[in-house]
Amino acid sequence: MTRVAIFASGAGSNAQKIIEHFHQHPLVLIAFIVCNKPQAGVLKIAEEFAIPTLLIEKEQFFRGNAYVDELKEQQIDLIVLAGFLWKIPVALIRAYPQHIINIHPALLPKYGGKGMYGRFVHEAVIEHKETESGISIHYVDELYDHGKIIFQATCEVKPDDTAETLAQRIHTLEHKHFAAEIEKLLVL
Ligand code: GAR
Repeated sequence: MTRVAIFASGAGSNAQKIIEHFHQHPLVLIAFIVCNKPQAGVLKIAEEFAIPTLLIEKEQFFRGNAYVDELKEQQIDLIVLAGFLWKIPVALIRAYPQHIINIHPALLPKYGGKGMYGRFVHEAVIEHKETESGISIHYVDELYDHGKIIFQATCEVKPDDTAETLAQRIHTLEHKHFAAEIEKLLVL
């Protein structure tokens, strides 16, 4: 079994899709949900599926052991960032080199970097009158939104799109591809 931890900060719709996709999978177990917000929707989803959770604190994440011991204790092989909005500390990247992946709601290297998350990404895409956006799944390295790209998919940006309508289209794309790409990475 490959043991996967999902890190999420918000609604957790991607986390939910991934959990459902791998439910009773013979080779991949979603073993741990890590979250930095006590009210996050992802914690309820984890409870429904009886997946252990860890609520993390800024101080220990950035200035302590970055929860490496807890992840090793759970024998985590791969970390999946699904709408996790804190930067990953170097200590954690060094403990899991090329074993942390992230999904970004735009076509990297465009519209990445500090402060580029969620609706800020979509607003920037619309402001720049892009006709195309999409999703990027990539390895996490020591720079924001920088590691090697594993997969991208595109969608149209319509002239009358708002950040909300574009976010919806991007979410649909994420839900279609993220779990399948994780499976390809781990199983094929
Ligand atoms: C997703 O669209 C994801 O790409 C984005 O946050 C959303 C989380 O939605 N991540 C980033 O912007 C990271 N820079 P969810 O909580 O419903 O899965």
